[in-house]
Amino acid sequence: MDEQQKPGQPAPPAKPARRVFSGIQPTGAPHLGNYLGALRWWVDFQDRYDAFYCVVDLHALTVPGDPEELSKSTLTMATLLLACGLDPARCTLFVQSHVHYHADLTWLLECTASMGELSRMTQFKDKAQKGGEESARVGLFAYPVLMAADILLYDTDLVPVGDDQRQHLELTRDLAQRWNSRYGPTFVVPEAAIPPVGGGARVMDLQEPRRKMSKSADSDAGVVYLFDDPKVIERKVKRAVTDLDPPGPGSVRWDPEEKPGVSNLLELLATIRGGKPEDIARAYDGYARLKSDAADAVVSLVRPLQERYRELSQDPGAVQAVLAAGARKAEEVAAATYDRARTAMGLLTA
Ligand code: TYM
Repeated sequence: MDEQQKPGQPAPPAKPARRVFSGIQPTGAPHLGNYLGALRWWVDFQDRYDAFYCVVDLHALTVPGDPEELSKSTLTMATLLLACGLDPARCTLFVQSHVHYHADLTWLLECTASMGELSRMTQFKDKAQKGGEESARVGLFAYPVLMAADILLYDTDLVPVGDDQRQHLELTRDLAQRWNSRYGPTFVVPEAAIPPVGGGARVMDLQEPRRKMSKSADSDAGVVYLFDDPKVIERKVKRAVTDLDPPGPGSVRWDPEEKPGVSNLLELLATIRGGKPEDIARAYDGYARLKSDAADAVVSLVRPLQERYRELSQDPGAVQAVLAAGARKAEEVAAATYDRARTAMGLLTA
């Protein structure tokens, strides 16, 4: 009961729960970075906030891909999210293209964003560089605006993401603030919820520990996929690049600048088992035991997810039903925000 409330008085209306929104692309197998940087927070946040989570299939169209694969991988990703612990009774899970307001609001926002600010997005520069900027898709350039639309449609307060999405979140905030001052208050200005340094914000590639673990890495050797066989995971972690200085007292320490490989393994242990990487380091004086403990921790994290995934994938119809119900709920919220936005911009109501 509220402290101000007197006996016999009706309870004041409940304060609306803060809203969380986040998304993941369906293409490419999900990896440990996705899980530690984002998905485990999604699971945690569903009990603390009004949470909306989305498999962002429209974002996947920004780079070439096989149409048949896309629909399969969208269902696979949704099944995996449920296996990770998302519960349709406690959050809204849906597929981006099932709610047309994402594409609709993108156009309105694109008409407020500038070429200059989109040209500064480092993910566009990195991805466009790979295939040549001339042939990069217009959708790849406009990608961050679609992401802003995803977030703003749900009056989102908090966006749980890994550190690599920081710049996109800043752009989303800029677009929302500019819109609100130009057309009147329309959007909630969201905050990024990024894990702490040393807590999974940026899980690094095991072979190239100065690069983040990524679905689009040139080689799989340093990327632990959530679907990897436990034996493969063990091999990948045990072959992780550490450092050249000889093992001995002080060789295992938390120092991402000087010792990125060792620090990454310490961060994996800290994030999975709890604790701070710098404290965990004190228990080790050589690399072999650090690697084998990190491998055990990752396998014990991934094994139950894989078992649950195998069970859930027996019934794809049930997963599709979750997604259909999620899309209906999402659409209700999105429709109201979109309507506010189109009216604010001066579009005539039909
Ligand atoms: P995506 O699909 O690349 O990744 C999904 C989530 O995983 C995080 N992540 C990592 N975290 C730590 N270490 C890593 N090595 C690592 N690699 C990936 C990402 O930060 C992300 O949180 N643009 C987004 C998808 C998106 C979105 C949105 C996110 C579209 N609309 C709206 C939030 C809100 C992306 O490509 O994530």
